[in-house]
Amino acid sequence: MGKKLRSESWFGSQDKMGFVHRSWLRNQGYPNDAFEGRPVIGICNTWSELTPCNGHLRELAEFVKKGVLEAGGVPLEFPVMSLGETIMRPTTMLFRNLVSMDVEESIRANPLDGVVLMTGCDKTTPSTLMGACSVDLPTIVVPGGPMLNGRYRGSEIGSGSFNWIIKEKQNSGRFTGEDLTEMEICAARSIGHCNTMGTASTMAAMVEALGLTLPGASSIPAADSRKKVMAQLAGRRAVDMVRENLVLSSVLTREAFENAIVVNAAVGGSTNQVIHLLAIAGRIGVPLELDDFDRIGSKIPLLVNLLPSGKFLMEDFFYAGGLPVVLRELGPLLHENIITVNGSTIGANNATAECFNPEVIAPLSKPFQPEAGIAVLRGNLCENGAVIKPAAATPALMKHRGRAVVFENMEDYHARIDLPELDIDEYCVIVLKGVGPKGYPGMPEVGNVDLPKKLLNREVKDMVRISDGRMSGTAYGTVVLHISPESTVGGTLALVQDGDMIELDVENRRLHLDVSDAELQRRRAAWQAPEPLAARGYVKIYLDHVEQADKGADLDILVGNSGSTVSRDLH
Ligand code: FES
Repeated sequence: MGKKLRSESWFGSQDKMGFVHRSWLRNQGYPNDAFEGRPVIGICNTWSELTPCNGHLRELAEFVKKGVLEAGGVPLEFPVMSLGETIMRPTTMLFRNLVSMDVEESIRANPLDGVVLMTGCDKTTPSTLMGACSVDLPTIVVPGGPMLNGRYRGSEIGSGSFNWIIKEKQNSGRFTGEDLTEMEICAARSIGHCNTMGTASTMAAMVEALGLTLPGASSIPAADSRKKVMAQLAGRRAVDMVRENLVLSSVLTREAFENAIVVNAAVGGSTNQVIHLLAIAGRIGVPLELDDFDRIGSKIPLLVNLLPSGKFLMEDFFYAGGLPVVLRELGPLLHENIITVNGSTIGANNATAECFNPEVIAPLSKPFQPEAGIAVLRGNLCENGAVIKPAAATPALMKHRGRAVVFENMEDYHARIDLPELDIDEYCVIVLKGVGPKGYPGMPEVGNVDLPKKLLNREVKDMVRISDGRMSGTAYGTVVLHISPESTVGGTLALVQDGDMIELDVENRRLHLDVSDAELQRRRAAWQAPEPLAARGYVKIYLDHVEQADKGADLDILVGNSGSTVSRDLH
């Protein structure tokens, strides 16, 4: 073993405090040898009935425990705050940083030598990983896995992606309340997270690309028995990682982050990866910037045919060979020699992966799209950047000049978007303010707002929409997101008025408000910052400290890490 276990400073002494630390744990039935130099593995569980996508993680944790015990470790499962994407108000993103604090302090304050992160729904992956990075113990991720394919009256239905056409369907008059109810259960057919390449699948692919899971772990459906096997093997491996002192910072190198950007492009992953990866890099101390996503990822071809960029679902992806095939195909475009949690390199782990369905996973020589990554825009409307996902956008709108139709916030949008008298046509640019990190607060996934009813009735499918918010990973459209600085802190977005002309030019990475500098100066002088949205509690701390989207929207006081040492015992 070599290095003394961290947990020994709790359990290894024969004095009063050793007695206290061991004795109360014994009420759960631990034998003497549980405290005699065996690695203690914390199983950080985001299970919650309020997080439907993670509802199976309690059972899955039992398999992790089996693995830990088999390898000679001691598993201790602990709960942390969980974030249910479809339920929490105003948005789970408001609480991502709070969960990261919960995870960080839970790990550091307890006698843990290594950690298994049980994740699933969108924010449960980045939040737990951010917290773990700030402690930097040996850490492995067990992704909960996607739902099985849903089926509605003979056709497949992807969780999430259908949400964006409900308004369109209901407008058609041929979609009843009963249809909606039936569809609800069809769309969520089994345990697991969204079965598209939405944010949860994107986050799972991200952690595998970073080298933080066992090979192939992210693609296995939640309901597949191989998920349990993977969990058990991850438990075993966590113990060995402690013995090898393979800490997070040994795996999370700059090269690992570059791999994650490449993989996100190749799988058509969510724009949310940008904000989460920046925050994770900030915690572990790897320099990463918004422009890296464009520079490294924007020319990467699309290798998977999954919703929302394509047509298949995660179950199909798994049967086709899953992420290992993508990693093997990407080969030379990746840093193949980076070490992963299994102690082997990402190249070696995936060298023999085989594709069983080229309709779902394409070879690098024949991609589904030649360029799939995220483009980073600059201009007077987004001095610190904005992002767009060209693969999910309408090609004809990628270069567009249109008249702004401005909504000051979501309430304003809902009140006016469907008014018959609203002066809007398909060439206009929908501008949504007040949905950034501080503005909402919490930067919700509203950037892909529905088009006005009257245009949907004319079968208009897409319009340019711009905002300081985010977009669900299951969504699509010509949607400019993450505008920084946001409107609430006085970014130029705050100054846009109805009738202004806006130019989007994705090829030249430009987003421009065609208003003179003098006029902008006049508007800026007259602009008044909105009242803060909270005077107390966590939201007040969040508002006082949250950074802008181009920095990952972490709290400034949480960036970096404090290691695993706690200098004082409880005495
Ligand atoms: Fe949980 Fe999509 S809502 S993963």
